[in-house]
Amino acid sequence: MSLVCFLLQSLVTGHWSLATDMGISHTKLWGGRFRKQTDPLVEGYTSSIRVDYRLARYDVIGSIAHAKMLGRCQIIGPKDCRKLVRGLERILRTIEQGDWQMDPSAEDVHTQIQQQLERRVGSVAHKLHTARSRNDQVSLDLRLYCRDAVIQLAQVIGILQRALIRFAAKSQKIVIPGYTHLQRAQPVLFAHHLLAYVEMLQRDAQRLEDVQRRIQVLPLGAAALAGTSLPIDRHYVAKLLGFPRIAANSLDAVSDRDFACELIGVLAGLHVHLSRFAQDCILWATEEFGLIRLDDAIATGSSLMPQKKNPDVLELIRGQAGLIIGNLSGFLTVMKGLPLSYNRDLQWDKRFVFESVEASVDALTVLERFVCHLNVRPEGIAHLLESDFICATDLAEYLVERGLAFRQAHEVVGRLVAFTETQGKRLKDLSLAQLRRFSKRFDEPALRLADPYRSVERKRSFGSTHPAQVRRALRQWRLRLGMR
Ligand code: ARG
Repeated sequence: MSLVCFLLQSLVTGHWSLATDMGISHTKLWGGRFRKQTDPLVEGYTSSIRVDYRLARYDVIGSIAHAKMLGRCQIIGPKDCRKLVRGLERILRTIEQGDWQMDPSAEDVHTQIQQQLERRVGSVAHKLHTARSRNDQVSLDLRLYCRDAVIQLAQVIGILQRALIRFAAKSQKIVIPGYTHLQRAQPVLFAHHLLAYVEMLQRDAQRLEDVQRRIQVLPLGAAALAGTSLPIDRHYVAKLLGFPRIAANSLDAVSDRDFACELIGVLAGLHVHLSRFAQDCILWATEEFGLIRLDDAIATGSSLMPQKKNPDVLELIRGQAGLIIGNLSGFLTVMKGLPLSYNRDLQWDKRFVFESVEASVDALTVLERFVCHLNVRPEGIAHLLESDFICATDLAEYLVERGLAFRQAHEVVGRLVAFTETQGKRLKDLSLAQLRRFSKRFDEPALRLADPYRSVERKRSFGSTHPAQVRRALRQWRLRLGMR
């Protein structure tokens, strides 16, 4: 909504000048010391509700825990406590049923929930803000949001991993050229290539799990910045909210956003991985590579060129990595040089977090769909494997097995490749006599080395592309990710 709409709405609803029946002559959470109304332009500019409404559920959950603690510590009476909790639970139900609506004229989500509570339970609502400031409240809300986001992100990462594993299992016999410098290097199993991404995603999931430890630290009780003179019980609130730790320094508690920066950092890393997978698939789907075919369901067309089938989804994911990396950089720049403790600059934190989380869930979800629609093109792969110089390393290792130092073997096969190339031939076209002109250590079995399938089967090291190694990896991933 534009600033102008906001101003008009404020005028219509009179939200900025309402006199209520509760002895508080405004709808703000502050204002007692103000003699003039806030300029509506300032109100519009400082409002964050259009972004932070996403925190509504968490705001209420945090408030319920806070109210219960106030009652338990006898800071408010048991009746007031019950009224507050019941009122908040009713608001929570509205939110969970999807019936809650953001009020664009509220300053922020905390203010809107407070106003709703006042309408539901009357003046007892004014006791909820005891020993609490929006500074510790907003940090708690964001932490609760991040905690759920991490759980959801880990789930969708797992879903994508399983799709990759299922496809890898189906394509265990497919050999493709592996690349370095984007030049054909050595044959690898297609499944091995896919499992490389499963490994990357697993590290992303582990990093998420690690951030969770720093997300689940209770800031509530820091109040505005210095703590409170009231006899609160922070450990009780932490227990109610399932936070294993409470913030040890009130100044740090209200100004720390490391956990959110870290989360975006992890998502930036995740996007780097997704963008690399997207790029591999974009290349594979080109006419030039011809390794996969884009399914109609996940491809897009051109408004001008009737023949085109484009990988827009993959390109958007590749580009989205720039967006998330930008968010990390933007967020760190907002934080940089901020004096302690809370500053309103921190209000910008939420758009970085929400956008990064929502975009990541979208990208992972659509990529899973893409993997489910993957089609390999055997004829395209066969074409890529026609040139058999990718088996050159196998010839060199063959000579090593027959006693030649690797450096010499490398030299011999290098000369052999140059010779074959000038003859316009392939390695498998050479006769034993021709091979033996380069090294007497070549014998009859060497004639069968220039075969990509044999090449993967010759590998033996742990973690290599040997079919048995890939089968083992698949088995372990299935077990690890709870697949049948
Ligand atoms: N909307 C604010 C934010 O997101 C809430 C905290 C306001 N605190 C304050 N001292 N003005 O940061």
